[in-house]
Amino acid sequence: MRGLLSPSVMCADLLHLADEIEKLDKLGVEYLHIDFMDNKFVPNITFDTNMVRSFKKPMRNIKRDIHIMAFEPQQYFDAMEIGEGDLVSVHFEACKDVHAVLNDIKGRGADPCIAISPDTPVDTVKDFLDEVKAVLLMTVYPGFAGQPMAPKSMERLSELRKIVDDSCKDVKIEVDGHVSWDHCGEMRERGADIFVAGSSSVYGKDYPLDKAVERFYTLVK
Ligand code: DX5
Ligand code: ZN
Repeated sequence: MRGLLSPSVMCADLLHLADEIEKLDKLGVEYLHIDFMDNKFVPNITFDTNMVRSFKKPMRNIKRDIHIMAFEPQQYFDAMEIGEGDLVSVHFEACKDVHAVLNDIKGRGADPCIAISPDTPVDTVKDFLDEVKAVLLMTVYPGFAGQPMAPKSMERLSELRKIVDDSCKDVKIEVDGHVSWDHCGEMRERGADIFVAGSSSVYGKDYPLDKAVERFYTLVK
């Protein structure tokens, strides 16, 4: 199966978001990566819960891939209308009771995903593999687009792949941050399944969006 694409909407043309989403929908990408930030867990704010909810409207085939970089993320689930089809990533570092938060996501019919930042040991995820559909490996320090890759990201990705394979669980690996033209092929080889593509690839200056999406899929087949 080919790698799955999740363009990072915070890197899109923010003045024409509905058009951007319709374009992606027509291009057949699997996910729309929506970063939500509380300005506490990370020193930045992107979309509020109303925007996260409103992204659903123009989406026919794409699923929401909601990356919540916020403390106690469950407080936002109602306002975001988390439900069937959503992939929802919460940070291990931001929840007092991770199991309860993952269970809450599952109870809403959505797919739970545990996200870990670059300084969190990869084997932390072992405790959650029974409860998640995916693990989000941050390959930059969370909070901003356009950052360089965090140290040891590629080694961490291979380590995570081995942990998931050894667990025999059907858990996907998502990579988020500087998933660039130069790196996405190696990330695929090292076992990434879902690719958050932002300013370093599909929303870069090198290609129009349709050509960028086409090129990305050839690199992560
Ligand atoms: C970082 C965000 C990512 C990031 C990806 O906190 O989660 O979505 O913007 O885009 P680039 O390619 O700019 O790292
Ligand atoms: Zn993200």
